Amino acid sequence: MSIRRRDFLKTVGGASLAGSLLGHPAAVMAVNTERPDRAFSFANDKVPMNAANLCPRPSAITKAVAHYGAELDIDMSGANRRRIMDMKNEARDGIAAQLGVSADDIAIVRNTSEANNIVVQGMSLDAGDEVLLWDQNHPSNGVAWTVRAKRTGCVVRYLSIPGDTQSIDKVVDVFVNAISARTKVVSFTHISNITGFRLPASEICAAIHRKNSGIHIHMDGAQTWGAREVDLAKIGCDSFSGSAHKWFMGPREVGILYVSESSQARIWPGVVSIPWGREAEPDVMRARKFEALGQRDDASIAGLAATVRFHQSMTPAGVQRRATGIADQLRAALTDIGVPFVSTANPNFTSNVIILSAPQATRGELIDNVLRDGGVILAGVNGLRLSPHIYNTPDHVERVVAAIHKSRNLLS
Ligand SMILES: Cc1ncc(COP(=O)(O)O)c(C=O)c1O
Repeated sequence: MSIRRRDFLKTVGGASLAGSLLGHPAAVMAVNTERPDRAFSFANDKVPMNAANLCPRPSAITKAVAHYGAELDIDMSGANRRRIMDMKNEARDGIAAQLGVSADDIAIVRNTSEANNIVVQGMSLDAGDEVLLWDQNHPSNGVAWTVRAKRTGCVVRYLSIPGDTQSIDKVVDVFVNAISARTKVVSFTHISNITGFRLPASEICAAIHRKNSGIHIHMDGAQTWGAREVDLAKIGCDSFSGSAHKWFMGPREVGILYVSESSQARIWPGVVSIPWGREAEPDVMRARKFEALGQRDDASIAGLAATVRFHQSMTPAGVQRRATGIADQLRAALTDIGVPFVSTANPNFTSNVIILSAPQATRGELIDNVLRDGGVILAGVNGLRLSPHIYNTPDHVERVVAAIHKSRNLLS
C-alpha cells in the first residue's frame, strides 16, 4: 500500500478498519457488559432513546462505512468496485439466514418507505379489488394505498383494534371478520410506531390464509427488524419490509424487502434500471428485480454486511433479550411513577415502543425538558414516545424517568 493511501485511510478511520473487524467483536463484548453504550459514540448528555425513528450505529459500523467509501475514492477500478459491491451478497445471505428465508427472496432497497411502496404501487390488482389495512399503519403503508387506489380503482378499507384488547384470539378475529370475498391484500405494521402495539403476526397470517390462501399479506417490519428475532417462514407473511437505520443499527438509507417466491410475479417493480438486463424478463434472480435501482451507495451496503456480522455475533435472540430487558425496566419504572400510558401493558402486545399520553401542545416542551434534565432524546409521536434499544443502560432509564417525573404536569 502506498504511503499516501495509508495516510488517507488513517484520516478516515482506516487505521482501525482492522478496526471495524477487530472493533466489531469488541463492540459485541461492550454490548454484552453493563456498558453497552461504549460500543457507540453518542454523547452522554445526548443519549438516543428514539430507535423507532433513527438508531445510532456502533462506532465500528460507522468506521466500516467510512472506510469502504474511502477505498472506493482511492481505487475506482472495476475490480475494487466489484469487491465492495459483492458485500451486498454477503449482507443478503446473512439477513436471509437471520429471517429464516431464502437469500433469493430478499431485495436490498433504500428504506421501509420504498419497500412498502414497491408492494403498494406494484401489486397486480383489478378495479374493485379490496385492500385491508390496520388503521395504525405508517403513511407509506396507508395513504400510499389511497394514492394507488385513486390511480387504479382498487378499494381501501381499514380495521381497528381497541387498545384495551386483552386476548390474541380477539385480535385475530378482527382481521378474519374484516375479510370479504373481494379482499386481495391485507397489510399491517407488525409493531405500531404510534402506539407500540405488537400484533400477533403468525396467528393473524395463519388465520387469514386459512380463510383464503390467495390473499397477499404484507407486513411492515420497520419497528421489528433488528429489535426482535423474526422468523418469516414461521410467521407466514408474503412480504416484509425494514430499514437498516432503525433497530438494525446499520447504515442510513439502506433497507430490505422480502417477497416470497410465489408472490414475486404479482408485484411489478416501479424502477427498472441496471442490473435488470435488456428484456422484459429480468436477468437478475427473483427478488433482485426489486433492487434494479442503478448506482447505489456501495460503501453503505458494504457497511450493512458488517452490521449483519454484528447481529450474528450477538444472535437476533440475544439482541431481543437485551432490548426487551431494558424496555421492561423502563415500563416498570414509568408505571411506578404513575404516568398515563398510550401503550398497552399487556405482555402479549408490548414492544420496545412505549408511548405516554401527552397533549400535542406540550410535547415539544416535554422533549426539551427531558433532554435538558436527563440528557435523553425522545420523540413526540402520538404522545411522548420512548424507544430504548441495546445501547441504553439502567442509568439512562433512571435519568429519563426522573426527568419525566419532574415535568409530569405536561403529560395528559
Ligand atoms: C412502521 C413504519 N413504517 C415505515 C416507516 C418509514 O421508515 P423509513 O423512513 O426508514 O422509510 C416508519 C418510520 O418511522 C415506521 O415507523
